[in-house]
Amino acid sequence: MTERTSKTGRDEYAQLAKPGVFARLLSCGLDVEYHRARGDYLYCREADDPRTGRAGHSEGGASESDARPPSDRPAAAPGPDAGEIEILDLVGGFGAGLLGHNHPEVLQTVRELATQERPFLAQGSVRGAAGKLAAELSRRAEREVGEHHADGVPRKAPGERGYVVTLTNSGTEAVEAALKHAALERRRKLERLADEAARADASGAGSGTERAAALRELALAPPQFLALSRGFHGKTTGALQMTRAPEYREPWATLGVRVREIPAEDAAALAQAVDDATVSIPPAEPSSGGGRGADARFVDIAAIFVEPIQGEGGVFSLSTDYLAALRRAADEGDFPLVVDEIQTGMGRAGRFFAASESGLRGDYVLLAKALGGGVAKIGALLVRRDRYAAEFGRLHSSTFAEDDWASEVALTALSVIERDDIPGRASRLGERLLSRLRDVAERYPDAIAAVRGRGLMVGVEIADMSGSASPLIRVLAGAEQLGFVLAGYFLHRDHIRIFPTLSAPRTLRIEPSAYIAFDELERFAVALERACAALRAGDVYELCAFLARPGPGFSRDRHREPPGALRGAEVGPAQSSPPPRDLGKARDARRIRARPAEHTEKVGFLAHFLEPGDLRRWEPGLSPLSDEACERFLRRAREGIPPFVVGRSDMRSPAGTAAELTVVGLPFTPSQVMASLRSGEADWALELVARGTELAAGEGCRIIGFGGYTSIVTGNCRDVRPPPGVAVTSGNSLTAAAALEAVFEEARRRGRRRLRLAVVGAAGNIGAALAEVAGEEVDELVLVGRSRARRRLDALKRALDGRVRARIEVSTELGDLAGCDAILTATNAPSPIILPEHVGTGGVIVCDVATPGDVDPTVQRARPDASVLSGGRVRAPLGQKLAIDGFDLEPGEIYGCLAETLLLGLSGLHESLSRGPLRAD
Ligand code: F0G
Repeated sequence: MTERTSKTGRDEYAQLAKPGVFARLLSCGLDVEYHRARGDYLYCREADDPRTGRAGHSEGGASESDARPPSDRPAAAPGPDAGEIEILDLVGGFGAGLLGHNHPEVLQTVRELATQERPFLAQGSVRGAAGKLAAELSRRAEREVGEHHADGVPRKAPGERGYVVTLTNSGTEAVEAALKHAALERRRKLERLADEAARADASGAGSGTERAAALRELALAPPQFLALSRGFHGKTTGALQMTRAPEYREPWATLGVRVREIPAEDAAALAQAVDDATVSIPPAEPSSGGGRGADARFVDIAAIFVEPIQGEGGVFSLSTDYLAALRRAADEGDFPLVVDEIQTGMGRAGRFFAASESGLRGDYVLLAKALGGGVAKIGALLVRRDRYAAEFGRLHSSTFAEDDWASEVALTALSVIERDDIPGRASRLGERLLSRLRDVAERYPDAIAAVRGRGLMVGVEIADMSGSASPLIRVLAGAEQLGFVLAGYFLHRDHIRIFPTLSAPRTLRIEPSAYIAFDELERFAVALERACAALRAGDVYELCAFLARPGPGFSRDRHREPPGALRGAEVGPAQSSPPPRDLGKARDARRIRARPAEHTEKVGFLAHFLEPGDLRRWEPGLSPLSDEACERFLRRAREGIPPFVVGRSDMRSPAGTAAELTVVGLPFTPSQVMASLRSGEADWALELVARGTELAAGEGCRIIGFGGYTSIVTGNCRDVRPPPGVAVTSGNSLTAAAALEAVFEEARRRGRRRLRLAVVGAAGNIGAALAEVAGEEVDELVLVGRSRARRRLDALKRALDGRVRARIEVSTELGDLAGCDAILTATNAPSPIILPEHVGTGGVIVCDVATPGDVDPTVQRARPDASVLSGGRVRAPLGQKLAIDGFDLEPGEIYGCLAETLLLGLSGLHESLSRGPLRAD
C-alpha cells in the first residue's frame, strides 16, 4: 500500500474496494481504468501516457476509430485526444446507457441544477420535481398499458387511472419497494376480509368468527412470492431471493423473503404453483339449507415478478402466450403482477415498456437504469392507482429519494427519449443487428449456440467449447470463463467493450446506446466472426495471447527469478550421477498392510508449472510466446485459469496392488508464489490449491499429494481442509527419508567410514528433521543457516546435543561447507546458493532437497569428483514410467512427494501422513 492515494486509485481499488474482484478483472485483461466517457465511447490512456500512472493499456488493436458518429446524433464524441484510446462501449452500463455516456442535454440539466443551486436535501417538503416525474411516468405508463381507447378517450375515471410512483435510488430498491407494497396489499386485504367476516357475524349471519380468525392467522403468515427461473431482480436481501442464480443467492438462502421459483415458459407449472398456494377459508355464512356453507378459496400469493426479457439470466424474451398466462393467473388469483422493466424499459427493447410488445399490463411496473439518463441513480416503483396503499409513502422512504437532481435528470431523459423516438431507433437498429449476428451464427454453429433478444438488448450465446482442441480453451470453457476472456479479447484486439451476463457467462450481452451508428455494430459483427473462426480452429494464440502483453496489472509481485534458476526446481539440479532411491525399502513397515490387488485406489497429485515456459508445454498453441511473455501471461491469468486435470496414469506395486493417479495442474510458478509469500499476499495461491484439492476429490481421489509449492503455500497441507474421507500429504516424509538414504548409500559406495555432514537450512522444519535423523548416523554434524537464524540453530544444537551420536557445530557461513564430506541442503532460497567454492575437493556428497534447488548447476562441472544428488527423486518399484505430460522424469523416476502419495495408495494406508511440520520420527 502506498502512503498517499495513488494517482489513479488503481492499487487502492484492488486492495480496499474490490479485493476479490480485481484479480478476476486482471485475469481476463479487463483491468482498465477509463477516465472519460461520451456517447458510445469510453476512453482510457495509453500505458506510456504521462497522465496514466499505470492505467490504460498499451497495445493497439485492429481498427482505428474510422466510424465517427455522424453529427445528427447528440452524443457524437469528439474522438480521442492524443494518448487516449477510444473504446466502443457495447455494455452500456448493463442497460443503463440507453442515451449513451454523458448525453449533452442530460449534462446541461446537471449544469443548470448546479447553477440554480437546486436543493438536493429537502425531505419532508413538497418535492415538485419528483411530482412532475411521477406525473410523467404515470402518463407514459397509462399510455403503454392501454388505459385509453384508440380514439384517445380514457377507459377509466380519472381517479382510477394511472400509477402512483414511488421513487428510489436504484433498481434493487425499487424491487424491495414492490415486495413491501405487495406484502402490505395482501395483509390489508386479509384484514379487510376478516373484518367483513367478523361484521357479518356480529349481524348474526353465522360462522363469521371462525372465518375471521382463519383470515387473521393467514395475514400474519409470511407472504409467498413467485419468481421465474433465470430471473434477476437485484442483490439486496429481498430482491436477492427473487434473483434465481444460485451463486448469488445461496450464501443468503436463509435470509428474507419466501419465494417459490417457477420455470419460465411453463404454464402448467404456473398453474400448479397457484393451485398449491390456494387455501380454503371457512365459509362466512351457512348454506341456504342451514348447514355449513362451502369453503371460500384464497390464492395466497403476494405477487409474481417477471422481466419481459430476462436480461441478466441470459437475454431470453418471454413469449406473449406465457406473459398472458401470468396476467390471467394474477387476475384470477387477485394478486399483483410486477413487471420489472428496470433493464428492458425506457425504450431499449423497441417499446417504452418491453411488455407492451405482448400487450401485457403490469399492476406494478419497475424502472431504474436508463431512467437516470446515464448520470443519475434513480429507480421507480409504479403501482396502479386503484391498488396503491395510501400509507405506503409514509412506511417506505429514503434519505436520498425524490431529490431534485435525479428527478430533473430523469425528466430530461424522458423528454429526450420521446423527442428522439428512442424506442423506434432501438427497434430498427436491433433488427439489423440481430439479423447480422444470426448470419454469423449460421456460419459458425460450432462457435455460437444462439443469438437472442429484441431491440438493443441482444445476447450471443457462445457454444460449449469444452471439446476444443486447445487445452486452455477447454479449461476456460469448462469453468465458464471463456465469456470473460472473450470480453478481454474484444477489448484489446478490437477496442470493443462487451461483457457476458454474470449468471449465464456464456452469453455475451450487447446493449449499446440507441444513438449508435450501425457501422459500429458492424465492427462488432466482424470482430465476432473473427473470434468464431479462432474458436473453431482452437486458435488459442489469437484469443488469449493478449493476456501476455506488457501493461498495467502488475502493481506488486514484481519478483523476477534469475534466468534458468528454476529449471528443474522441483527436483534439484539436473545432474544426478547415482541412480535414484528404491521405493521398496521402507524402514518402518509396521502400519503398512497389503491390500487386495483387485482394488484400484484413486490418488491425486497437485502440481504446478516449474517455470513460465511450461505454459507452452501444456498449451502448445501458445508456443510463440517468449519466456517473459509466459511469465506475464501466468501472472495475469493465474486466477482466471482454474485447476485442470493434466493427465492420468496407472501404477502397480510388486505386491500386485494398483493405484490410479490423477495429476491436477495449477497455473502458477514457484517464483510467483515466493514473491507473494514474501509480501504476505499468497491467498490467491492457497485458494487455487483448495480448488485443486476439490477438483481431485471430485475426480474420486481419496489420497491427494501436494507437490512443490502447493505444500509450501499450505503449511504442508495444514491450511487446506480436505473433503471428508480424503487424506492429504505433503510427501515430505518420503522426500526427506529418501534424501538421507541417498547420502548414506553414496557414502557406503565411496567407502566412507566417518562423515562430517552439513545440513544447510537446519533452522527450517525439514532441515531440522533431517539433522535430527542424520545426527544418529554421522560423526560430526554442522548446522548451517543464515545469521538471522542463529538463535534457532543454537536451540537445535542444545536440543540434539547428547541425544544424538554426532558432535554438533553451528555455522552461519557457507564458507564452512568446504570442510565437510557431505552436504544436505533444504533451504527455501528462491535461487541457488551453493556454488562451486562452497564444495570441497575429494569427492564430496551434495544432496539437494530444496524446491527450487539450492545447488547451482555449475557445481558438478566445477567439482567433477563430487556426487551431486537430487534428493527429491526416487525410483518406481518396477521401473514404471508415469504417462503424464509435462513431468520431466526419466522412465522409472518419480518425485519423492509424488512417490509418497502413490505409496499411500498402493499400501492401503489411508491417512494424512505428512501434514503439518515434519518430525524426525
Ligand atoms: N431488475 C433487473 C431486471 C435488473 O436487470 C437489475 C440489474 C435489477 C433489477 C437491479 O437493479 O442494479 O440498479 O440494483 N441488473 C444488472 C445486470 C446488474 O447486470 O443486468 P440495480
